Amino acid sequence: MEWEFSLDNIYDVAKAFWEAFPAQKVFAFHGQMGAGKTTFIQALCKAKDVKDVTGSPTFSIINEYEYLCEGTKRAIFHMDLYRLKDKQEAEQAGVEDVLYSGEICLVEWPEKAPAVFPEDTIHIYIDAISSEKRGLKIADI
Ligand SMILES: Nc1ncnc2c1ncn2[C@@H]1O[C@H](COP(=O)(O)OP(=O)(O)O)[C@@H](O)[C@H]1O
Ligand SMILES: [Mg+2]
Repeated sequence: MEWEFSLDNIYDVAKAFWEAFPAQKVFAFHGQMGAGKTTFIQALCKAKDVKDVTGSPTFSIINEYEYLCEGTKRAIFHMDLYRLKDKQEAEQAGVEDVLYSGEICLVEWPEKAPAVFPEDTIHIYIDAISSEKRGLKIADI
């Protein structure tokens, strides 16, 4: 699966993304610094009607947001593993627990702790085609 998007249609692509993955839980976002991982994850959260999507400087390894899933409050976890050194540190931070919590997890820098990801993780690759255009590729579906 492959999409191309700019900031003008990022929200449409975010909605199409959730339509393509209605039941999957763990999503690993690969891509260089500045590729647009955080920006796309924020669009995904918005598309789920998350109220308080933060891009704040206090962003920690694990951020928990809330959304309504068929009328029930559920969590979405946005994780940025960039500052993690190894698997042990990922475990200490609680990354593994969250990945197996059954809630939606959107994870940046999965390369920092590849061993902790569930087997059915969806791997997504984002790259900058130009200053405004981004490409998003999803393997094997
Ligand atoms: N189509 C696009 N999708 C995502 N980001 C874009 C796009 N076009 C421009 N940008 C800009 O690229 C930068 C991406 O930054 P960010 O999402 O923090 O990347 P990453 O999390 O991959 O390091 C932001 O400044 C954003 O405004
Ligand atoms: Mg980021």
